[in-house]
Amino acid sequence: MQVLILNGANLNVLGRRDPQIYGGLTLNELESRIYEWAHALDITARCRQSNSEGEFIEWVHDAYDHVDGVVVNPGAWSHYSWAIHDALELLEVPLVEVHLSNIEEREEWRRFSVVAELASLRVIGKGPDGYREALEYLAGKAVA
Ligand code: DQA
Repeated sequence: MQVLILNGANLNVLGRRDPQIYGGLTLNELESRIYEWAHALDITARCRQSNSEGEFIEWVHDAYDHVDGVVVNPGAWSHYSWAIHDALELLEVPLVEVHLSNIEEREEWRRFSVVAELASLRVIGKGPDGYREALEYLAGKAVA
C-alpha cells in the first residue's frame, strides 16, 4: 500500500513553532516517526513538505492514480485554499486530514477547513500521533 503524506506551509519550521501548540518535534523527527509507523503497518510512505502552494498542488496531481491513500496537513492553507481543495477533490482514494493542534479550540479563523468535506477521517489536536492514527486508518482500508 502506497501512502503520500503531505505537509504544507510552515510545517518545515515545526521545531521553532510554539511547542505548547505544536509539540517539540522537528519535521525531520516527525517524518522519521511516520516512516517507522508506516513500516510497521506495511505501508510504503512518502513524506513531502512545501511552502509553495503550486508545488503542493502538483504533488497532489502526481498522486492521482499512483497512491492508495493520502494524509494531508496543509497548515494555514487548510483555512482558505480552494485551489488545494479542488486538487484534493479529484483524488479517488481515501484522504485523511491531520492537524497537530486542535484547530477547533484556537482562533475563530482556524475552525473552518476546506479539506473537511473531502476527508474520510479528520484527526485533530492529537499531535504527531495523529499521523499514526491516519496511517492505521488507511491500513485498515487496504484490500488484502
Ligand atoms: C496546523 C494548524 C493550522 O491552523 C496552522 O496554520 C498550521 C498547522 C496544525 O497542524 O495544527 O500551520 O495545520
